[in-house]
Amino acid sequence: MQNPFVVTGIVDNPSFCNRRKEQAELKAHIRNAQNVLLFSHRRYGKTSLILKVFKALRNITPVYVDLYGTTSIEGFIKSLIKGASVIEPKSSRFIKIVRETISGISISFGFDPISQTPNIGASFERQPAAVDIEAAFQLVKRAARRKKIVIAFDEFQEVAGYGSPNFEKELRKILQHHDHIAYIFAGSQRHMLTQMFNDAKRAFYQMAISMPLDRIATEDYIDWIGDLYLQAGKAIDETAIRDIVARCENHPKYVQEFFYTLWPSKKIDTDQINAVENAIIEKRSVEFMNVWDSLSLNQKKALKLIAATGGQQIFAAESLARYQLNTASQVVAAMKVLEQRELAAKNGVYRVCDPVFRKWVQRFS
Ligand SMILES: Nc1ncnc2c1ncn2[C@@H]1O[C@H](COP(=O)(O)OP(=O)(O)OP(=O)(O)O)[C@@H](O)[C@H]1O
Ligand SMILES: [Mg+2]
Repeated sequence: MQNPFVVTGIVDNPSFCNRRKEQAELKAHIRNAQNVLLFSHRRYGKTSLILKVFKALRNITPVYVDLYGTTSIEGFIKSLIKGASVIEPKSSRFIKIVRETISGISISFGFDPISQTPNIGASFERQPAAVDIEAAFQLVKRAARRKKIVIAFDEFQEVAGYGSPNFEKELRKILQHHDHIAYIFAGSQRHMLTQMFNDAKRAFYQMAISMPLDRIATEDYIDWIGDLYLQAGKAIDETAIRDIVARCENHPKYVQEFFYTLWPSKKIDTDQINAVENAIIEKRSVEFMNVWDSLSLNQKKALKLIAATGGQQIFAAESLARYQLNTASQVVAAMKVLEQRELAAKNGVYRVCDPVFRKWVQRFS
């Protein structure tokens, strides 16, 4: 049996673990044409969840719009056109409706040799305006042949960086008229996204139902991983699965990567588990060194403090003294930056977001 686990990319069966409750919740919101704000830390499985739910939809056309790397309204419109192109299999019809809905744009079809997928390019002959955003949505509706639609904007936080303060307002104005369409706004920069949707002064205030995506529960990992080993006629103890999931702090990406690396092992014991863990930390060490070098002294100390304590009792005098931090306010100031950089998060207690980074930091604590 081929290794059922993967290291990178969007996952589907057999590499997809559970998320049944989340799938049902998202599906219900889509059917009810409700807007959803789906957010989590990096690599928790937002994109995989959206695409999994999209694949199972009946009588609703799913449109997936990846905004990653877009820096302008033009990029937003192009991504929307790309999303629409996937739902219209006939390229001649697609080009016709693009020409009829958006003026001053040229479309080209190509083939991406890396992803082995058809690729669509769009370029404006002039500066795109608000009417073009509206026109791009019309295009989606026509491409969907007027069936019910759900549109997912993945990496939606990019919108906040376009440097066009009116864009959010324009977009809201357009979306408000689409009460029969469900929108999913997904992203990982919690601060930016929650500010966009929870700040009464912002255009997207209360525009969507909040759906935070958490890590995956240990019991769900046990069922999923146990089954995959069983199907392959391989043996693994439940205690070993528990140990690994705990080492990965239930982080979906790391649990997946850990088992990908462990899969060829015939014997699974503590030595083998330690070896895999070390290999995973080593692979990231250059990247972690770059992050570490970019931190101030107090930020490094604060990071060591929460890595070692798991966020418990960090303001206690002996904790501060152990890391040569003079005052609690130094920790608070350092944590603010670490949170902004998504290196640490506060959820009751402060913790390091990336469990592998935490282990790397702990090595020299
Ligand atoms: N349901 C799942 N079961 C098992 N592993 C998962 C699941 N969802 C995500 N993963 C793991 O997490 C990784 C990241 O998944 P995905 O790209 O869907 O997350 P994301 O939250 O969209 O990430 P990003 O923040 O980079 O956009 C996958 O490559 C996979 O290893
Ligand atoms: Mg994603």
